[in-house]
Amino acid sequence: MVTRVSTVAFEGIEARAVDVQVQISPGTVAFTIVGLPDKAVAESRERVRSALIASGLALPAKRITVNLAPADLPKEGSHYDLPIALGVMAAIGAMPSDALSGFTVLGELALDGSITSVAGVLPAAMAAVERQHGLICPEACGSEAAWASSELDILAPRSLIQLANHFKGTQVMSRPEPAIMPASGALPDLRDIKGQESAKRTLEIAAAGGHNLLMNGPPGAGKSMLAQRLPSILPPLSPRELLEVSMIQSVAGLLADGALSNRRPFRAPHHSASMAALVGGGLNARPGEASLAHHGVLFLDELPEFQPQVLDSLRQPLETGEILIARANHRVTYPSRFQLVAAMNPCRCGQATEPGYVCRRQPNERCIAQYQARLSGPLLDRIDLAIEVPAVTAADLILPPPEEGSAQVAARVAVARKRQEARYASLQKGITTNAACPPALLEEVAQPDSDGLSLIRDAANAMRLSARGFHRVLKVARTLADLDGEDQVRRIHVAEALSYRAHADRRSAA
Ligand SMILES: Nc1ncnc2c1ncn2[C@@H]1O[C@H](COP(=O)(O)OP(=O)(O)O)[C@@H](O)[C@H]1O
Ligand SMILES: [Mg+2]
Repeated sequence: MVTRVSTVAFEGIEARAVDVQVQISPGTVAFTIVGLPDKAVAESRERVRSALIASGLALPAKRITVNLAPADLPKEGSHYDLPIALGVMAAIGAMPSDALSGFTVLGELALDGSITSVAGVLPAAMAAVERQHGLICPEACGSEAAWASSELDILAPRSLIQLANHFKGTQVMSRPEPAIMPASGALPDLRDIKGQESAKRTLEIAAAGGHNLLMNGPPGAGKSMLAQRLPSILPPLSPRELLEVSMIQSVAGLLADGALSNRRPFRAPHHSASMAALVGGGLNARPGEASLAHHGVLFLDELPEFQPQVLDSLRQPLETGEILIARANHRVTYPSRFQLVAAMNPCRCGQATEPGYVCRRQPNERCIAQYQARLSGPLLDRIDLAIEVPAVTAADLILPPPEEGSAQVAARVAVARKRQEARYASLQKGITTNAACPPALLEEVAQPDSDGLSLIRDAANAMRLSARGFHRVLKVARTLADLDGEDQVRRIHVAEALSYRAHADRRSAA
């Protein structure tokens, strides 16, 4: 007889149904797992054997065959331990065989029979809801699973024995509750930054419209400081975004104690990051920083120091909002709609734009040009706001802290975001910010008044704006109008939007 237990295999954040079939037949004593298992799955055998023995169950001296179906779907990870163990237990009569039907099962076993946490419980729980199954998962992941649906029947046992007792009716388990992570400490506040008023204004615009931002300035100007304060002015995740972000974190195994956080992700990988670290891939095709920054911020400090190929791999997600990882035998996509914030020095020495500075190796212009050349045009073309951050002056530094802090800026950002959500809700699904608005729709919602139109027409000629550059100006102008609470994009908005473009064009011409 064959016993069956349902579990899942992950393809990106999708959980595909996998059937664990266990057969115990007379013959040579053996325990084999077939169905394209990777190394962690093959090792499952040893953990299952020990865990069953520790739980007081001996494996029968027979031939045990475990098949993971469908056989052509690669099985990666350690979460097959629990479904295999339960399948064996049902096959030897240690558990009523019908108890498991209607459950999707995942979890890793320790040698002592306890069930330890695994990655991907949230997507597995969502898949269980879709299949109208219950879910059996490790105790530590119970509160994560509870987010999937309030209807979902969840068993989150600590050990095999506890689960067996539950089915016997001697120790009934209660359903875990969804948990939200307590906000851990205050975020750094904009009030710490003295002077730099125009950079702060740009940061506010970037936050309001979800625009990509590049800051260029000498070392010590406060670029890193500014970027680190962006999370403090961004609105919290909406419930739908929260679930999407958490699915990615779940698959990456980053949800501590199953608690979710509604703070927007802020990922700041070091410039030595590899391609796999940034866009994903490697063992188990894990999500990279660009996916972990989904609905949040990807901050690349010292942008030109990243390897050029690594930076160019970001062009795909910047355009489409997702990342495709092709493996030998399957493809995986991860959502990856992030806001790119980058900082850079003007040249390798960092001081070339300072008045009176003379580069020792070569003329300043060439030093700047060489450093800028490390960034490809198409990448720069995807940046809506490019600003120069001048060095802070001593006069700024001795000022008292500014009146206005992150709380006030965040309030204005929140209002502007609400306006955008309301506008796009009726126009196009899945779009919530001006930065994500497609060009066709943009021409409809960001049509400037006649003064604005003539300004943008003249500027487009004078600055030789590309089509993409033209749309970027419109997007930023739309955000500026939203910050002003206006439905009509006016000349003043277009003019300010063009000023954030001028820097970019001057730089690429240098
Ligand atoms: N505008 C500013 N107000 C207050 N302190 C500043 C400011 N700019 C820079 N600093 C100080 O200089 C340090 C370096 O700033 P940082 O953001 O790392 O510069 P950058 O990234 O531009 O090289 C900060 O830790 C802070 O102490
Ligand atoms: Mg810095």
